[in-house]
Amino acid sequence: MKAAIMGYGTIGSGVAEVLEINGGSIAKRVGEPIEIKYILDLRDFPGDPIQEKIVHDYKAIAEDPEVRIVVETMGGVEPAYTFVKTMLEAGKHVTTSNKALVAAKGAELIALAKEKNVNFMFEASVGGGIPIIRPLNSCLTADEIEEITGIINGTTNYMLTKMSEEGLEFDAVLKEAQEKGYAEKDPTADIEGYDACRKIAILTSLVCGQQVDFEDIHTEGITKITAADMKYAKTMGRAIKLLATSKKTEEGYTAMVAPFLLPPEHPLYSVNGVFNAIFVHGNVLGDAMFYGSGAGKLPTASAVVADVVEMAKNSDKNIPVEWSSKKLKLVDSDNAVNRFFIRTEVPDRDKIRECFGEVEYVEAEGVTGELGFVTNAMREGELAQKTEALGGVLQMIRMA
Ligand code: HSE
Repeated sequence: MKAAIMGYGTIGSGVAEVLEINGGSIAKRVGEPIEIKYILDLRDFPGDPIQEKIVHDYKAIAEDPEVRIVVETMGGVEPAYTFVKTMLEAGKHVTTSNKALVAAKGAELIALAKEKNVNFMFEASVGGGIPIIRPLNSCLTADEIEEITGIINGTTNYMLTKMSEEGLEFDAVLKEAQEKGYAEKDPTADIEGYDACRKIAILTSLVCGQQVDFEDIHTEGITKITAADMKYAKTMGRAIKLLATSKKTEEGYTAMVAPFLLPPEHPLYSVNGVFNAIFVHGNVLGDAMFYGSGAGKLPTASAVVADVVEMAKNSDKNIPVEWSSKKLKLVDSDNAVNRFFIRTEVPDRDKIRECFGEVEYVEAEGVTGELGFVTNAMREGELAQKTEALGGVLQMIRMA
C-alpha cells in the first residue's frame, strides 16, 4: 500500500517516524506494509534518508495511480484545501490533522470522498492522539449525544495549570510556555480560544450531522485571566479551565468556548498540564471520558497513522460520515443559562443586591479594593444588562 505525506513539519515527520517504529505491527494489521512513496514539501532535506522521496509539486502525487492514501499535515486552509480536493478527485483516500481545514471544508470534503468511493478522515484534528472522532462516528452511534465538553487545547491548559500552581501572571507563564515549546511564537490561536473553537465546531458538526460554522460559536480565550482570579478560585476550591462545550437543549444546540470555574467533582477538574480530555454524555450511554495526549508530534501522528490503517483496511469502500453542508443555526449564546463569578471595583453591597439580588461573596487572600461574588443562575443576556448597571466590573468567569 503506497502512501504520500503532504507537509514534512512536526506532524508529517512524526507520521514517517510512527510508520518506521511500528511498521511491522501496522503491516500485520493492514495485511501488507504501508510504504511512503512521496513527501511533498517546499524544502529539501539534504542528507536525510527521506530526501529521495521529496517532491515539490503536489500533482506528482495526484497523478501517480500507485498512491492510494495521502496524509495532509500542512496546516491552514489553503493550499491544503486545493491539494486535498485534488487527491480525493483523483480517487485517493486522505487523512488530515488540520483542524482549520476540517472546520472550514469538512462537509464538502466528506461529500466528495463519498462521491469518489474513498474516505476523508481527520481523527488527529481534535484531541491530538486521543480517539474521539472515530468513537463518535463508529462507537457511540446508538446514542443521541446530548453534551460534549472538553479541554481541547494543550497550550492553554498548560498555562492555566502553571498560573494556578505557581501564582504567576499570564504574561510570565506565556513567556515560559514559549521558551519550553508549549506555546507558539505567535500564540494567538491558542490563547484567544480560536483553536478550541474550531475543534468544538468539528465535534458539534459530527454530533448533529450538519455544518456548524466556527464563526457562530461564542469564543473567549484566557488572556484576561489573572493571578488574582486564581486566588479567588483557590478560596472557592475550584479550578479555572478553558472549556469548549456544546449541548443539545430543547431550544437547539448551544456551543461556547470560555474559561470556567470547575468544582472538584467536575470530570474535567483534574485534567492538568498539556493533557486534553473530552467528556461526552449520551442519552443511553450516560457519561464517558476520553483523556490523554492532545498535542505533540508522536501522539498526533499516532492518530493520523490510525486513519491510514483504517483507510488501508477499507481501501475499496467509503465509510459513511454524517456531516451535511446544511448549516445548523446555534441557539443565541445570550440565551445560555449560567452562574457567574464577578469581581467589581464598586465595593457597594447594596448596589450589588439591587442589580443581582442575593449573591455569595468570595474573599481572596491578599486581594483588596474590590468585591468578588457569585450570582444565581441567569441568562447571559441578562448578565450583560446587570453588569452594565453595576459598573466597575473587573472580571466575569462562568461557574461550571
Ligand atoms: N496548539 C494546539 C494545542 C495543538 O495546544 O492543543 C494541537 O491542536
